[in-house]
Amino acid sequence: MAKNKTAYVCNECGQDFPRWQGQCSACNEWNTITEVRLGSSSAKRTHQFSGYAGQTSNHVQTLDQIDLSELPRIASSFGEFDRVLGGGIVPGSAILIGGHPGAGKSTLLLQTLCQLSESMNALYVTGEESLQQVAMRAHRLGLPTQKLRMLSETSVEAICDIALNEKPKIMVVDSIQVMHMADIQSSPGSVSQVRESASYLTRFAKQQGIAVIMVGHVTKDGSLAGPKVLEHCIDCSVMFEGDSDSRYRTLRSHKNRFGAINELGVFAMTERGLKEVANPSAIFLSREEASSGSLVMVVWEGTRPLLVELQVLVDNSAMANPRRVAVGMDANRLAMLLAVMHRHGGLQMSDQDVFVNVVGGVKVSETSADLTLLLAMVSSFRGEIMSPELVVFGEVGLSGEIRPVPNGQERLIEAAKHGFKRAIVPKANMPKKAPEGMEVIGVTKLAQALEAL
Ligand code: TYD
Ligand code: MG
Repeated sequence: MAKNKTAYVCNECGQDFPRWQGQCSACNEWNTITEVRLGSSSAKRTHQFSGYAGQTSNHVQTLDQIDLSELPRIASSFGEFDRVLGGGIVPGSAILIGGHPGAGKSTLLLQTLCQLSESMNALYVTGEESLQQVAMRAHRLGLPTQKLRMLSETSVEAICDIALNEKPKIMVVDSIQVMHMADIQSSPGSVSQVRESASYLTRFAKQQGIAVIMVGHVTKDGSLAGPKVLEHCIDCSVMFEGDSDSRYRTLRSHKNRFGAINELGVFAMTERGLKEVANPSAIFLSREEASSGSLVMVVWEGTRPLLVELQVLVDNSAMANPRRVAVGMDANRLAMLLAVMHRHGGLQMSDQDVFVNVVGGVKVSETSADLTLLLAMVSSFRGEIMSPELVVFGEVGLSGEIRPVPNGQERLIEAAKHGFKRAIVPKANMPKKAPEGMEVIGVTKLAQALEAL
Protein backbone atom coordinates (compact mmCIF):
# COMPACT_ATOMS: atom_id res chain seq x y z
CA MET A 1 0.00 0.00 0.00
CA ALA A 2 1.27 3.40 -0.89
CA LYS A 3 2.34 5.65 1.90
CA ASN A 4 -0.19 8.25 2.94
CA LYS A 5 0.97 11.77 2.37
CA THR A 6 0.21 14.51 4.83
CA ALA A 7 0.34 18.22 4.39
CA TYR A 8 -0.18 21.06 6.81
CA VAL A 9 -2.61 23.64 5.56
CA CYS A 10 -3.52 27.04 6.97
CA ASN A 11 -7.28 27.38 7.46
CA GLU A 12 -7.12 31.09 6.85
CA CYS A 13 -5.15 31.46 3.65
CA GLY A 14 -4.80 27.90 2.41
CA GLN A 15 -1.00 27.92 2.35
CA ASP A 16 0.61 24.45 2.48
CA PHE A 17 3.54 23.66 4.78
CA PRO A 18 5.74 20.57 5.05
CA ARG A 19 5.47 20.51 8.86
CA TRP A 20 3.32 21.96 11.58
CA GLN A 21 4.07 25.40 12.94
CA GLY A 22 2.27 27.65 15.38
CA GLN A 23 2.03 30.66 13.12
CA CYS A 24 1.29 30.71 9.42
CA SER A 25 4.18 32.50 7.77
CA ALA A 26 1.99 33.50 4.84
CA CYS A 27 -0.82 35.30 6.64
CA ASN A 28 0.67 35.57 10.16
CA GLU A 29 -2.36 34.00 11.83
CA TRP A 30 -1.76 31.87 14.90
CA ASN A 31 -3.01 28.32 15.41
CA THR A 32 -4.61 28.02 12.03
CA ILE A 33 -2.48 25.21 10.63
CA THR A 34 -4.00 21.76 10.63
CA GLU A 35 -2.84 18.43 9.39
CA VAL A 36 -4.40 17.26 6.15
CA ARG A 37 -4.15 13.74 4.84
CA LEU A 38 -3.85 13.68 1.12
CA GLY A 39 -4.49 9.98 0.59
CA SER A 40 -2.21 7.76 -1.40
CA SER A 41 0.11 9.76 -3.57
CA SER A 42 -1.97 12.58 -4.93
CA ALA A 43 -0.28 12.45 -8.32
CA LYS A 44 -1.85 9.09 -9.00
CA ARG A 45 -5.33 10.25 -8.18
CA THR A 46 -7.70 9.56 -10.98
CA HIS A 47 -9.76 12.65 -11.32
CA GLN A 48 -12.44 12.32 -13.86
CA PHE A 49 -12.59 16.04 -14.32
CA SER A 50 -9.10 17.28 -14.64
CA GLY A 51 -8.96 21.02 -14.68
CA TYR A 52 -11.12 23.25 -16.73
CA ALA A 53 -10.87 21.07 -19.82
CA GLY A 54 -14.33 22.02 -21.03
CA GLN A 55 -13.48 25.66 -21.08
CA THR A 56 -9.85 25.99 -21.97
CA SER A 57 -8.41 25.69 -25.42
CA ASN A 58 -4.90 24.47 -25.96
CA HIS A 59 -3.66 27.22 -28.19
CA VAL A 60 -2.89 30.83 -27.54
CA GLN A 61 -5.31 33.44 -28.86
CA THR A 62 -5.61 37.16 -28.75
CA LEU A 63 -8.32 38.59 -26.56
CA ASP A 64 -10.50 39.66 -29.46
CA GLN A 65 -10.51 36.17 -30.96
CA ILE A 66 -12.26 34.74 -27.95
CA ASP A 67 -15.90 33.87 -28.37
CA LEU A 68 -17.98 36.35 -26.44
CA SER A 69 -21.35 34.74 -26.87
CA GLU A 70 -22.45 34.56 -23.27
CA LEU A 71 -24.92 31.99 -22.10
CA PRO A 72 -28.06 33.63 -20.78
CA ARG A 73 -28.26 33.64 -17.00
CA ILE A 74 -30.74 31.47 -15.22
CA ALA A 75 -33.30 33.58 -13.40
CA SER A 76 -34.09 32.03 -10.04
CA SER A 77 -37.62 32.55 -8.87
CA PHE A 78 -36.42 35.21 -6.44
CA GLY A 79 -35.60 38.65 -7.81
CA GLU A 80 -33.63 39.40 -4.64
CA PHE A 81 -31.48 36.29 -5.08
CA ASP A 82 -30.77 37.26 -8.69
CA ARG A 83 -29.77 40.79 -7.80
CA VAL A 84 -27.27 39.55 -5.21
CA LEU A 85 -25.78 37.23 -7.82
CA GLY A 86 -25.46 40.15 -10.22
CA GLY A 87 -28.44 39.32 -12.43
CA GLY A 88 -29.12 35.61 -12.12
CA ILE A 89 -27.27 32.34 -11.95
CA VAL A 90 -24.49 31.94 -14.50
CA PRO A 91 -24.62 28.49 -16.16
CA GLY A 92 -21.61 26.39 -15.22
CA SER A 93 -20.72 28.50 -12.20
CA ALA A 94 -20.05 27.32 -8.67
CA ILE A 95 -21.89 29.20 -5.94
CA LEU A 96 -21.49 28.81 -2.21
CA ILE A 97 -24.28 29.82 0.16
CA GLY A 98 -23.12 30.20 3.74
CA GLY A 99 -25.10 30.85 6.88
CA HIS A 100 -25.86 29.77 10.41
CA PRO A 101 -27.92 26.64 10.93
CA GLY A 102 -31.58 27.56 10.70
CA ALA A 103 -30.96 30.67 8.64
CA GLY A 104 -33.05 29.17 5.86
CA LYS A 105 -30.49 28.09 3.27
CA SER A 106 -32.18 24.78 2.54
CA THR A 107 -35.56 26.48 2.36
CA LEU A 108 -34.31 29.12 -0.06
CA LEU A 109 -32.73 26.54 -2.35
CA LEU A 110 -35.64 24.15 -2.22
CA GLN A 111 -38.06 26.91 -3.17
CA THR A 112 -35.76 28.10 -5.94
CA LEU A 113 -35.21 24.65 -7.39
CA CYS A 114 -38.85 23.59 -7.25
CA GLN A 115 -39.73 26.67 -9.29
CA LEU A 116 -36.84 26.23 -11.71
CA SER A 117 -37.59 22.54 -12.24
CA GLU A 118 -40.77 23.58 -14.01
CA SER A 119 -38.73 24.93 -16.87
CA MET A 120 -35.42 23.05 -16.71
CA ASN A 121 -33.78 19.91 -15.46
CA ALA A 122 -32.81 20.46 -11.81
CA LEU A 123 -31.24 18.15 -9.27
CA TYR A 124 -31.35 18.58 -5.48
CA VAL A 125 -28.78 16.55 -3.58
CA THR A 126 -29.36 16.34 0.14
CA GLY A 127 -26.80 14.88 2.48
CA GLU A 128 -28.21 16.34 5.67
CA GLU A 129 -31.91 15.73 5.59
CA SER A 130 -33.71 12.60 4.46
CA LEU A 131 -35.62 12.68 1.20
CA GLN A 132 -38.79 12.36 3.19
CA GLN A 133 -38.04 15.42 5.27
CA VAL A 134 -37.38 17.50 2.17
CA ALA A 135 -40.52 16.19 0.49
CA MET A 136 -42.61 17.02 3.53
CA ARG A 137 -41.29 20.54 3.59
CA ALA A 138 -41.91 21.06 -0.12
CA HIS A 139 -45.41 19.71 0.30
CA ARG A 140 -46.12 21.94 3.27
CA LEU A 141 -44.89 25.00 1.39
CA GLY A 142 -47.14 24.14 -1.52
CA LEU A 143 -44.28 24.01 -4.02
CA PRO A 144 -44.51 22.34 -7.42
CA THR A 145 -42.88 18.96 -6.78
CA GLN A 146 -43.56 16.92 -9.91
CA LYS A 147 -40.38 17.72 -11.80
CA LEU A 148 -37.61 18.27 -9.25
CA ARG A 149 -35.16 15.37 -9.20
CA MET A 150 -33.97 14.40 -5.73
CA LEU A 151 -30.94 12.48 -4.55
CA SER A 152 -29.76 11.52 -1.08
CA GLU A 153 -26.01 11.02 -1.28
CA THR A 154 -22.82 12.21 0.39
CA SER A 155 -20.12 10.84 -1.86
CA VAL A 156 -18.92 13.51 -4.24
CA GLU A 157 -17.81 11.02 -6.88
CA ALA A 158 -21.18 9.27 -6.83
CA ILE A 159 -23.01 12.59 -7.07
CA CYS A 160 -21.00 13.64 -10.10
CA ASP A 161 -21.51 10.27 -11.79
CA ILE A 162 -25.24 10.46 -11.29
CA ALA A 163 -25.33 14.08 -12.40
CA LEU A 164 -23.51 13.08 -15.60
CA ASN A 165 -26.45 10.86 -16.48
CA GLU A 166 -29.12 13.19 -15.20
CA LYS A 167 -27.65 16.17 -17.02
CA PRO A 168 -29.28 18.84 -14.85
CA LYS A 169 -28.77 22.50 -15.69
CA ILE A 170 -28.63 23.33 -12.05
CA MET A 171 -27.68 21.26 -9.03
CA VAL A 172 -27.80 21.96 -5.30
CA VAL A 173 -25.46 20.20 -2.88
CA ASP A 174 -26.68 20.50 0.72
CA SER A 175 -24.23 20.73 2.44
CA ILE A 176 -20.54 20.73 1.59
CA GLN A 177 -19.64 19.81 5.19
CA VAL A 178 -21.20 16.35 4.93
CA MET A 179 -19.67 15.54 1.54
CA HIS A 180 -16.68 13.28 1.29
CA MET A 181 -14.31 11.89 -1.30
CA ALA A 182 -13.05 8.34 -1.22
CA ASP A 183 -9.35 9.03 -1.65
CA ILE A 184 -9.13 11.46 1.22
CA GLN A 185 -8.91 9.81 4.54
CA SER A 186 -10.07 12.40 7.00
CA SER A 187 -13.66 12.60 8.15
CA PRO A 188 -16.36 14.64 6.39
CA GLY A 189 -16.34 18.27 7.46
CA SER A 190 -12.58 18.34 7.95
CA VAL A 191 -10.49 20.93 6.17
CA SER A 192 -9.19 18.55 3.56
CA GLN A 193 -12.54 16.97 2.75
CA VAL A 194 -14.31 20.29 2.41
CA ARG A 195 -11.53 21.74 0.32
CA GLU A 196 -11.25 18.82 -2.05
CA SER A 197 -14.99 18.23 -2.34
CA ALA A 198 -15.62 21.86 -3.19
CA SER A 199 -12.89 22.07 -5.77
CA TYR A 200 -13.98 18.78 -7.34
CA LEU A 201 -17.56 20.02 -7.60
CA THR A 202 -16.33 23.33 -9.00
CA ARG A 203 -14.35 21.59 -11.73
CA PHE A 204 -17.36 19.45 -12.47
CA ALA A 205 -19.56 22.54 -12.75
CA LYS A 206 -17.18 24.22 -15.19
CA GLN A 207 -16.62 21.21 -17.32
CA GLN A 208 -20.20 20.09 -17.62
CA GLY A 209 -21.76 23.54 -17.73
CA ILE A 210 -23.94 22.74 -14.72
CA ALA A 211 -24.54 25.51 -12.22
CA VAL A 212 -23.68 24.00 -8.84
CA ILE A 213 -24.90 25.66 -5.65
CA MET A 214 -23.23 24.41 -2.48
CA VAL A 215 -24.47 25.03 1.03
CA GLY A 216 -21.82 25.78 3.65
CA HIS A 217 -22.24 26.18 7.38
CA VAL A 218 -20.51 28.94 9.23
CA THR A 219 -18.60 28.66 12.47
CA LYS A 220 -19.45 30.54 15.62
CA ASP A 221 -17.42 33.57 14.64
CA GLY A 222 -19.30 33.82 11.37
CA SER A 223 -16.68 32.62 8.93
CA LEU A 224 -17.29 29.71 6.63
CA ALA A 225 -16.42 26.43 8.26
CA GLY A 226 -13.58 24.80 6.47
CA PRO A 227 -10.68 26.55 4.91
CA LYS A 228 -10.85 30.05 3.64
CA VAL A 229 -9.30 28.63 0.51
CA LEU A 230 -12.80 27.46 -0.38
CA GLU A 231 -13.51 31.00 -1.44
CA HIS A 232 -10.69 30.91 -3.97
CA CYS A 233 -12.05 28.09 -6.07
CA ILE A 234 -15.73 28.99 -6.25
CA ASP A 235 -17.18 31.79 -8.38
CA CYS A 236 -19.62 33.36 -5.96
CA SER A 237 -19.86 33.24 -2.22
CA VAL A 238 -23.04 34.57 -0.66
CA MET A 239 -24.01 34.69 2.99
CA PHE A 240 -27.50 34.22 4.30
CA GLU A 241 -27.74 36.13 7.56
CA GLY A 242 -30.29 36.97 10.17
CA ASP A 243 -31.22 35.98 13.71
CA SER A 244 -33.43 32.95 13.90
CA ASP A 245 -35.77 34.90 16.16
CA SER A 246 -36.10 37.76 13.73
CA ARG A 247 -38.33 37.53 10.71
CA TYR A 248 -35.95 39.04 8.22
CA ARG A 249 -33.04 37.43 6.47
CA THR A 250 -30.46 39.19 4.37
CA LEU A 251 -28.45 37.75 1.54
CA ARG A 252 -25.15 39.40 0.78
CA SER A 253 -22.41 38.42 -1.62
CA HIS A 254 -18.82 38.33 -0.41
CA LYS A 255 -17.29 37.32 -3.67
CA ASN A 256 -18.76 37.42 -7.13
CA ARG A 257 -16.95 36.86 -10.39
CA PHE A 258 -20.00 38.00 -12.35
CA GLY A 259 -21.20 41.12 -10.62
CA ALA A 260 -20.84 43.67 -7.86
CA ILE A 261 -20.53 42.47 -4.30
CA ASN A 262 -22.31 45.20 -2.44
CA GLU A 263 -25.88 44.18 -3.25
CA LEU A 264 -28.15 43.19 -0.43
CA GLY A 265 -31.15 40.91 -0.86
CA VAL A 266 -33.84 40.92 1.79
CA PHE A 267 -36.21 38.06 2.59
CA ALA A 268 -38.83 37.43 5.22
CA MET A 269 -39.23 33.98 6.77
CA THR A 270 -42.92 33.18 7.05
CA GLU A 271 -44.84 30.06 7.93
CA ARG A 272 -45.17 29.55 4.16
CA GLY A 273 -41.43 29.68 3.53
CA LEU A 274 -39.30 32.57 2.37
CA LYS A 275 -40.85 35.61 0.76
CA GLU A 276 -38.75 38.29 -0.82
CA VAL A 277 -39.01 41.85 0.36
CA ALA A 278 -38.73 43.88 -2.79
CA ASN A 279 -38.85 47.27 -1.13
CA PRO A 280 -36.98 46.89 2.12
CA SER A 281 -35.97 50.46 2.87
CA ALA A 282 -38.01 50.77 6.05
CA ILE A 283 -38.42 47.22 7.32
CA PHE A 284 -35.88 47.71 10.07
CA LEU A 285 -37.77 50.68 11.44
CA SER A 286 -40.27 49.69 14.05
CA ARG A 287 -40.24 52.47 16.55
CA GLU A 288 -43.22 52.55 18.81
CA GLU A 289 -42.10 55.74 20.49
CA ALA A 290 -38.97 57.83 20.51
CA SER A 291 -36.49 57.32 23.32
CA SER A 292 -33.18 58.84 24.25
CA GLY A 293 -30.18 57.45 22.43
CA SER A 294 -32.20 56.27 19.47
CA LEU A 295 -31.80 57.84 16.07
CA VAL A 296 -32.54 56.88 12.49
CA MET A 297 -29.91 56.95 9.73
CA VAL A 298 -30.01 56.25 6.03
CA VAL A 299 -27.35 53.81 4.88
CA TRP A 300 -26.65 52.96 1.29
CA GLU A 301 -26.78 49.27 0.44
CA GLY A 302 -25.65 48.37 -3.05
CA THR A 303 -27.99 50.37 -5.19
CA ARG A 304 -30.60 51.42 -2.70
CA PRO A 305 -31.10 53.28 0.56
CA LEU A 306 -32.03 51.58 3.80
CA LEU A 307 -33.45 53.34 6.85
CA VAL A 308 -31.98 51.87 9.99
CA GLU A 309 -32.39 52.71 13.65
CA LEU A 310 -29.28 53.13 15.74
CA GLN A 311 -29.39 52.86 19.53
CA VAL A 312 -26.76 54.07 21.92
CA LEU A 313 -26.71 53.66 25.67
CA VAL A 314 -24.25 55.72 27.68
CA ASP A 315 -24.13 54.86 31.34
CA ASN A 316 -21.90 55.45 34.36
CA SER A 317 -19.30 52.74 34.47
CA ALA A 318 -18.45 50.78 37.58
CA MET A 319 -15.25 49.52 36.06
CA ALA A 320 -11.78 50.91 35.75
CA ASN A 321 -11.89 50.26 32.02
CA PRO A 322 -15.34 51.32 30.85
CA ARG A 323 -16.94 49.04 28.33
CA ARG A 324 -17.32 49.93 24.68
CA VAL A 325 -19.54 47.48 22.88
CA ALA A 326 -20.67 47.83 19.27
CA VAL A 327 -23.14 45.41 17.70
CA GLY A 328 -23.53 45.80 13.95
CA MET A 329 -20.72 48.34 13.75
CA ASP A 330 -16.97 48.44 13.86
CA ALA A 331 -15.64 48.78 17.42
CA ASN A 332 -12.54 50.64 16.22
CA ARG A 333 -14.71 53.22 14.55
CA LEU A 334 -16.58 53.67 17.82
CA ALA A 335 -13.34 54.25 19.70
CA MET A 336 -12.26 56.80 17.12
CA LEU A 337 -15.57 58.65 17.25
CA LEU A 338 -15.43 58.76 21.05
CA ALA A 339 -12.10 60.54 20.77
CA VAL A 340 -13.48 62.99 18.21
CA MET A 341 -16.44 63.63 20.50
CA HIS A 342 -14.16 64.42 23.40
CA ARG A 343 -11.88 66.65 21.46
CA HIS A 344 -14.31 68.49 19.20
CA GLY A 345 -17.67 68.01 20.86
CA GLY A 346 -16.47 68.71 24.38
CA LEU A 347 -18.06 65.60 25.85
CA GLN A 348 -15.95 63.51 28.17
CA MET A 349 -16.98 59.88 28.28
CA SER A 350 -13.95 58.17 29.73
CA ASP A 351 -15.92 57.14 32.84
CA GLN A 352 -18.95 55.94 30.89
CA ASP A 353 -19.88 52.58 29.40
CA VAL A 354 -20.95 52.99 25.78
CA PHE A 355 -23.13 50.39 24.08
CA VAL A 356 -24.08 50.70 20.42
CA ASN A 357 -26.64 48.55 18.67
CA VAL A 358 -27.83 48.63 15.09
CA VAL A 359 -31.44 47.47 15.26
CA GLY A 360 -32.65 44.53 13.20
CA GLY A 361 -29.36 42.67 13.00
CA VAL A 362 -28.16 44.94 10.20
CA LYS A 363 -24.41 45.35 9.81
CA VAL A 364 -23.34 48.86 8.94
CA SER A 365 -19.92 49.32 7.45
CA GLU A 366 -20.56 52.71 5.94
CA THR A 367 -19.04 55.89 7.31
CA SER A 368 -22.35 57.70 6.89
CA ALA A 369 -23.35 56.32 10.29
CA ASP A 370 -20.68 58.40 12.09
CA LEU A 371 -22.72 61.50 12.67
CA THR A 372 -25.80 59.50 13.63
CA LEU A 373 -23.78 57.63 16.21
CA LEU A 374 -22.34 60.78 17.76
CA LEU A 375 -25.70 62.54 17.98
CA ALA A 376 -27.38 59.45 19.45
CA MET A 377 -24.55 59.27 21.98
CA VAL A 378 -25.15 62.87 23.04
CA SER A 379 -28.85 62.18 23.32
CA SER A 380 -28.28 59.20 25.57
CA PHE A 381 -25.66 60.98 27.66
CA ARG A 382 -27.95 63.90 28.33
CA GLY A 383 -31.05 61.75 28.59
CA GLU A 384 -32.78 63.90 25.99
CA ILE A 385 -35.34 62.40 23.70
CA MET A 386 -34.90 63.36 20.07
CA SER A 387 -37.70 64.03 17.65
CA PRO A 388 -38.85 60.78 16.01
CA GLU A 389 -39.05 62.70 12.76
CA LEU A 390 -35.33 63.42 12.67
CA VAL A 391 -32.96 61.56 10.38
CA VAL A 392 -29.16 61.99 10.39
CA PHE A 393 -26.25 60.87 8.25
CA GLY A 394 -22.71 62.05 7.50
CA GLU A 395 -19.10 61.05 7.86
CA VAL A 396 -17.09 62.56 10.70
CA GLY A 397 -13.39 63.30 10.22
CA LEU A 398 -10.72 63.33 12.91
CA SER A 399 -10.73 67.10 13.15
CA GLY A 400 -14.45 67.16 13.80
CA GLU A 401 -15.38 68.11 10.24
CA ILE A 402 -18.51 66.62 8.67
CA ARG A 403 -17.79 65.11 5.28
CA PRO A 404 -20.24 64.36 2.51
CA VAL A 405 -21.36 60.84 1.65
CA PRO A 406 -22.42 59.48 -1.76
CA ASN A 407 -26.07 59.57 -2.89
CA GLY A 408 -27.08 62.28 -0.42
CA GLN A 409 -30.12 63.39 -2.39
CA GLU A 410 -31.51 59.86 -2.82
CA ARG A 411 -31.12 59.21 0.89
CA LEU A 412 -33.08 62.34 1.74
CA ILE A 413 -35.84 61.51 -0.71
CA GLU A 414 -36.20 58.03 0.78
CA ALA A 415 -36.38 59.45 4.32
CA ALA A 416 -38.96 62.02 3.25
CA LYS A 417 -41.02 59.24 1.68
CA HIS A 418 -41.22 57.57 5.06
CA GLY A 419 -42.41 60.67 6.84
CA PHE A 420 -39.22 62.14 8.28
CA LYS A 421 -39.56 65.90 8.60
CA ARG A 422 -36.09 67.01 9.63
CA ALA A 423 -32.62 65.99 8.50
CA ILE A 424 -29.14 66.87 9.71
CA VAL A 425 -26.68 66.16 6.90
CA PRO A 426 -23.25 67.28 5.68
CA LYS A 427 -23.41 70.70 4.09
CA ALA A 428 -22.01 69.36 0.83
CA ASN A 429 -24.93 66.94 0.67
CA MET A 430 -27.51 69.73 0.85
CA PRO A 431 -29.85 69.43 -2.12
CA LYS A 432 -30.69 72.55 -4.12
CA LYS A 433 -34.29 71.94 -3.24
CA ALA A 434 -35.21 70.02 -0.11
CA PRO A 435 -37.68 67.15 -0.53
CA GLU A 436 -41.29 68.12 -0.02
CA GLY A 437 -42.21 68.58 3.63
CA MET A 438 -38.68 68.21 4.93
CA GLU A 439 -36.37 70.66 6.59
CA VAL A 440 -32.75 69.92 5.74
CA ILE A 441 -29.95 71.31 7.90
CA GLY A 442 -26.45 71.28 6.44
CA VAL A 443 -23.49 71.21 8.83
CA THR A 444 -19.73 71.34 8.34
CA LYS A 445 -18.51 70.91 11.93
CA LEU A 446 -19.49 68.63 14.77
CA ALA A 447 -20.20 71.65 16.98
CA GLN A 448 -22.74 72.90 14.44
CA ALA A 449 -24.48 69.54 14.39
CA LEU A 450 -24.73 69.54 18.18
CA GLU A 451 -26.24 73.00 18.04
CA ALA A 452 -28.75 71.95 15.40
CA LEU A 453 -29.88 69.06 17.55
P1 TYD B 1 -33.60 25.74 6.98
O1 TYD B 1 -33.83 26.07 5.56
O2 TYD B 1 -33.74 24.31 7.37
O3 TYD B 1 -32.22 26.29 7.49
P2 TYD B 1 -30.73 25.88 7.08
O4 TYD B 1 -30.79 24.96 5.94
O5 TYD B 1 -30.09 27.19 6.78
O6 TYD B 1 -30.14 25.28 8.32
O7 TYD B 1 -34.60 26.65 7.81
C1 TYD B 1 -35.03 26.26 9.03
C2 TYD B 1 -35.67 27.36 9.80
O8 TYD B 1 -36.61 28.13 9.09
C3 TYD B 1 -36.40 26.70 10.90
O9 TYD B 1 -35.82 27.11 12.12
C4 TYD B 1 -37.82 27.09 10.79
C5 TYD B 1 -37.85 28.18 9.77
N1 TYD B 1 -38.93 28.00 8.80
C6 TYD B 1 -40.07 28.79 8.89
O10 TYD B 1 -40.20 29.63 9.77
N2 TYD B 1 -41.06 28.64 7.95
C7 TYD B 1 -40.98 27.73 6.96
O11 TYD B 1 -41.91 27.63 6.13
C8 TYD B 1 -39.81 26.91 6.89
C9 TYD B 1 -39.66 25.88 5.81
C10 TYD B 1 -38.81 27.09 7.81
MG1 MG C 1 -30.25 22.95 5.88
